[in-house]
Amino acid sequence: MGRRGIIGRVDESRQPAFHIREIPIWGDLILAPMDGYSDLPFRLLAREFGSAMSYTEFVNVDALSARAPNPVVQRKLCFDPRERPIAFQIYGHDEEHLVEMARRLEDQGASIIDVNMGCYIHKIAGRGAGAGLLREPAKVARLFARLTRALRVPVTAKIRLGWDDQTRNYLEIARILEENGASLIAVHARTKVQGYAGRADWDTIAEIKQAAHIPVVGNGDVRTVADIARRRAQTGCDGVMIGRGAIGNPWIFSRRDRNTVPLAEKIALMRRHLAHNVEFYGEPRGVILFRKHAYRYTQGLPCSDRLRAALMRCVTRGEFDVLIDEYANSPARSNLPAGGQPQ
Ligand SMILES: Cc1cc2nc3c(=O)[nH]c(=O)nc-3n(C[C@H](O)[C@H](O)[C@H](O)COP(=O)(O)O)c2cc1C
Repeated sequence: MGRRGIIGRVDESRQPAFHIREIPIWGDLILAPMDGYSDLPFRLLAREFGSAMSYTEFVNVDALSARAPNPVVQRKLCFDPRERPIAFQIYGHDEEHLVEMARRLEDQGASIIDVNMGCYIHKIAGRGAGAGLLREPAKVARLFARLTRALRVPVTAKIRLGWDDQTRNYLEIARILEENGASLIAVHARTKVQGYAGRADWDTIAEIKQAAHIPVVGNGDVRTVADIARRRAQTGCDGVMIGRGAIGNPWIFSRRDRNTVPLAEKIALMRRHLAHNVEFYGEPRGVILFRKHAYRYTQGLPCSDRLRAALMRCVTRGEFDVLIDEYANSPARSNLPAGGQPQ
């Protein structure tokens, strides 16, 4: 019997790209967790295009334990059963609390619990959560030993290379994670202090892959189909995680570059994404939250300055449809080639 994935039947003759403990992962590309972006509507589209698993946006364990359930946090943990495997990503600095909340999330249906060890925001990292954990290898060891003992589901980590250039302890952290039962390491190949500056250093991912016996997923600055092939060849990593390069561009998970996608397809997908958003968040919230995606979907479209400015003010789906129809039928556009690119 064929298994049904989100994009239909998975070819049984294909091998999984890798396993997270016993969970097969049927592809080597993964949408990165991105707070404010990788919500259920966007994850569903990414999965349809080929992202092989899902990560929720990160969730603060302190917010989870509050008496009254916080609706924003609960919404971040909504998932569609077809998304499985789904990793619930948590962050926090208190070991006890992280373990307790991870247990609760396991009961809420997580396939995997992922610990965020990469967030560089001062308010988080400065308090010892996110990338702040990289400064405390002994705590990481204790935390993962406890999590992997307490949970039935696999536990994974998403890390950076270290706190700063002087303390790039990624090999030590990777070893500690593995020794204490982690089932996968995703690596954004920058330090905490770098934030997003400079380039991701993929040579480090090759080093981690060589040393590790668990799957390693590389992350950082992948924008094109050629980048994917280049980084896999360079590092031998098991999977490639794509964040910013997938915003307004889920086609990358089908190994299609955005500039080869015809305008009509871009517009159709935008409409579908917006429909998912409105279904999930209601109107006007779903439309307002869609603006940032619309901005990226329309990036580089010819003669689109007015359209893009107007989309940023849209509050209803009706307004959005009118703007898109006007643009699609505008004479300024109509003598452009199918891809919508000026010649
Ligand atoms: C808007 C935004 C939100 C992010 N939120 C998260 C998050 O919740 N959890 C996480 O582990 N990383 C988060 N990241 C980091 C990404 O997962 C990824 O590691 C980083 O963007 C580098 O990959 P890229 O170059 O493909 O974007 C976020 C990044 C962005 C741009």
